[in-house]
Formats: sequence, C-alpha cells, structure tokens
Amino acid sequence: MNTKPIGIFDSGLGGISVWKEVIKLLPNEHTIYYADSDNCPYGPRSIEDIRQLSERIVQFLLHKKCKIIVIACNTITAAAIDYLRTTYREVSFIGIEPAIKPAAENTKTGSIGIFATKSTLESELFNTTKKKYAENIQVATQVGEGWVKMVEENRINTTASRVLIEENIQLMLDLNVDQIVLGCTHYPFLLPIVEAITGGKVNIINPAPAVAGRTKEVLQQHELLNKNDFKGKYHFYTSGDKRILADFLAIHTQEKGIIHQD
Ligand code: DGL
Repeated sequence: MNTKPIGIFDSGLGGISVWKEVIKLLPNEHTIYYADSDNCPYGPRSIEDIRQLSERIVQFLLHKKCKIIVIACNTITAAAIDYLRTTYREVSFIGIEPAIKPAAENTKTGSIGIFATKSTLESELFNTTKKKYAENIQVATQVGEGWVKMVEENRINTTASRVLIEENIQLMLDLNVDQIVLGCTHYPFLLPIVEAITGGKVNIINPAPAVAGRTKEVLQQHELLNKNDFKGKYHFYTSGDKRILADFLAIHTQEKGIIHQD
C-alpha cells in the first residue's frame, strides 16, 4: 500500500497549486492528479451537483488504488467532504478551507479579506469557521469574479486580467484589510499580480502548504509513507483539453508528468 499514489483532485487546474506543495514536501510519493476542467467552474453550482461530480472523481481515484485523497478545492471541501468521508470510509480525505484562523490571528487592523467562490462563501463550513475564529473582527468576502476562468484558460498576464483583479483588490484595500486569504486553489496562480497590486501592504495567505503538511501527517499516522528513495511518478488526468493542461504544467512547474485525457 505504501507505494500506491496520492490522489489529488480539483474542479480544474487550480489544485495544481496544492499538488506543487505536496510533491515539494513528499518528493518520493507517486501522485495522480485529476482536473475536471470540462465541468469547471464548480463555484456557481449547487451542493448536490458538486457532490455528484466529485463522487465520480473519487471513484476514479479509488479505482486507481490511491492510498489517500487530497481534495485540492475549497468549493468541493465545503460542499462534499463530509459526504465523501462517510461514503468512502476505506480512505482518508484531506480537505482545504479558506485560512480564516491565521488571518484573524495576524490582523493588526482588525479587518481581513477572503477571496473564494460563491459556493464556498455561502457554505455552512465557511460560516461556522468564520463565527468560531473571527467573531470580533471584520471579515470582507468577495468572489474572485472571472479569476478561475483566467487560470483555466491560461490567460493570466493580460491587461484585462490585471484590471479585473485590481478592481477586486481595491475594494478590499478600501476596507482596510491587512490580510488577504486566497480561498480558492486557482487563485495562487494569480499571486504575482495580486502582490504587484498590494505592493507589500497586506499579508497574502495561501493555505496550500498547510494542506501538504496535513497530508504528510496523516500518511505518517497510518504508516503509509512511501519509503523508496527515488522520485515519484506524476500522472495527470483531465476531462478538458489535454493540451491546455500540458501548457499549464510547462508554465507553472518544472516537473515532468504523464498526461491523460479522461
Ligand atoms: N479551485 C476551486 C476552489 O478551491 C474552485 C474553482 C471553481 O469554481 O471550480 O474553490
């Protein structure tokens, strides 16, 4: 079982921001990444829809004998992790959530900003976490309108993208936030633009490294770490366009992977 792959999935390419952290921390693990780009975005979908789509991918990853499954998507975690955990008890699931707690702990202005999808921001999970950790501070929330599409279409560095992101960020800055959480796994690919706009005035939080840390911890607890010394093999599946995934990997990672069309 130890040499079996880690399964990682997202509604699309965004979860590759989590995958990058996982392989950095666990370089000798094999991984299978599934991008459901054909059905992306999940953010505007109903909970029922998100559960159905994610369940199909979980079954696919289990069929590939994944020893653990990382849900590299805030939207799917909020809508479906409880359901998936109770339905597929044979495997551990690691989820990702907008990092409200560290943002609330770090703020000096008493005002934090969260960018996430509509579904995440409306979810019970998000609102319970907000109540628990940020009751006495101002939490500004905003959907990164069009951001997921920019990443999916490899349209990151255009003037139109920069203008759109700048408008969104400015609304947050006007509310005096000093912490911005990237609560959708697509958004870290826009980090250079976000940083250029905020110019060091705010702390930007990407929860992906913490998710990689949690994955390692759970594998350790279950004695499932791969003890081999050689580097892992990386397989990528997409329900969308194989060439877009290949281009995306070439731009955003130095790693070599085997790409499959689902
Ligand atoms: N990457 C996903 C997340 O972390 C959502 C993108 C989408 O709307 O499909 O929430």
